[in-house]
Amino acid sequence: VSATVPGRLEGERTAIRPTTAHDAHAMLELRVRNAAFLAPYDPLRPRSFLTLAGQGAMLAADERARRDDRGYGFVVLDRTEGDVPIGRVNLFNVVRGPRQSAGMGYWLDEGHGGRGHATAAVRLACEAAFDHLGLHRLEPAVMPRNARSARVLEKAGFRREGRAVRYLEIAGVWEDHDLFGLTAEEHGAQAPVDGPAQGRPGTRHH
Ligand SMILES: CC(C)(COP(=O)(O)OP(=O)(O)OC[C@H]1O[C@@H](n2cnc3c(N)ncnc32)[C@H](O)[C@@H]1OP(=O)(O)O)[C@@H](O)C(=O)NCCC(=O)NCCS
Repeated sequence: VSATVPGRLEGERTAIRPTTAHDAHAMLELRVRNAAFLAPYDPLRPRSFLTLAGQGAMLAADERARRDDRGYGFVVLDRTEGDVPIGRVNLFNVVRGPRQSAGMGYWLDEGHGGRGHATAAVRLACEAAFDHLGLHRLEPAVMPRNARSARVLEKAGFRREGRAVRYLEIAGVWEDHDLFGLTAEEHGAQAPVDGPAQGRPGTRHH
């Protein structure tokens, strides 16, 4: 296991790659188009967030987090549409030492939903975390009413571990969250992303 972020990871129809400063236009377009769709699941943001400068600042923060091994932001790409950006998956709160854990967040363009892209992106982020970054545990958290997101984690092999009361401030309200977990051992026993179930490793690395 190396401790560097991969340049790109792909499944059959979905790929992820680290964000860059060049993604500001595409991320702004996605964020603006999906503003109402994402608002119930997002913290309150300053008005400047939905500007090119705001997206640039977020991508610069991604770059600093990557440099400091604190977090790893990825763009989700639709391979069936020539690698068009369709969302984001993010490993954050990286803790090393005996813990080797990170949180995980993700969102997907509403118009590209329901085709398995989020599940594939989550599984590719697991591959980045466990096979490339040397992490041992990923701990996403989902509001109990977000059954769609919980389904994504269930399909990606995560275990629902318990309820954390008033865990995150979402859309201005301290919301309970269900904590999910997956460890490197469990990830290692999974079939490849999107591909035929023949055992790992089955995805292509670039
Ligand atoms: C949650 C989200 C990432 C899912 O993206 P997606 O691309 O539709 O996900 P997938 O296609 O991989 O899988 C969705 C699964 O949820 C199921 N689903 C859809 N709507 C559902 C609902 N209301 N309740 C329960 N399950 C639902 C789908 O049927 C599918 O499961 P299946 O394959 O067993 O049929 C996307 O809708 C999103 O970005 N939502 C807003 C932001 C968000 O919630 N982020 C996560 C915060 S923890």
